[in-house]
Amino acid sequence: MNYQPLKYIYKASGNPEAYTLLLLHGTGGNEKDLIDLGESFGADLNLLSVRGNVMEHGMPRFFKRLGMGIFDEEDLNFRTDELLDFLNHIAELEGFDVKKVIALGYSNGANIAGAMLVKHPEVLAGAVLFRPMQPFKVLPEFVSTAQVPVFFTSGNMDPTVDAKDTIAYVEALKKGGYSLTDFNLPASHNLTEQDVNLAHDWFNNTYR
Ligand code: MLT
Repeated sequence: MNYQPLKYIYKASGNPEAYTLLLLHGTGGNEKDLIDLGESFGADLNLLSVRGNVMEHGMPRFFKRLGMGIFDEEDLNFRTDELLDFLNHIAELEGFDVKKVIALGYSNGANIAGAMLVKHPEVLAGAVLFRPMQPFKVLPEFVSTAQVPVFFTSGNMDPTVDAKDTIAYVEALKKGGYSLTDFNLPASHNLTEQDVNLAHDWFNNTYR
């Protein structure tokens, strides 16, 4: 199968040195969903918001799944590489620094961001993972030599993921060299104001 382009919205900050927030929506979302959230991180950032190329009963996703929380890992592998190929292409086209991309994903979007972290640890300059799940049942060997910062929030009432799997995923990312800031919030699968406030604080402390 050949890589397909992803639908996207790009908003330039006007500063060629700027970081770019790569916005990755949840299941059933699209490239418009996270623009306001992305803008809330500050006007000094470029925003690149993309739509997943997979359709599940009319709902866009970033990769196929076989059931709730059961991922089609072959497709996830392919889609992760497709997203990377797209990033390299769009960085050149839009003129942003591909080495300064910070992924921000919610749910399914956080899961493809996680797949990027473990498959291609040299690509992202950071990641915000809201309500993620471990993307591959068995993770590949990976090392983040740059100790890339990762912000991670789970919900302690989230029915979509087992608490012990979340702990194991956090530990694996730490072991692979990522610099984790993780919170288990009193929340379900939905994003809350607390997630966003904590992510803003982390971002300001880490990148400004
Ligand atoms: C979702 O609803 O998107 C799941 O919780 C996560 C996924 O399928 O990637």
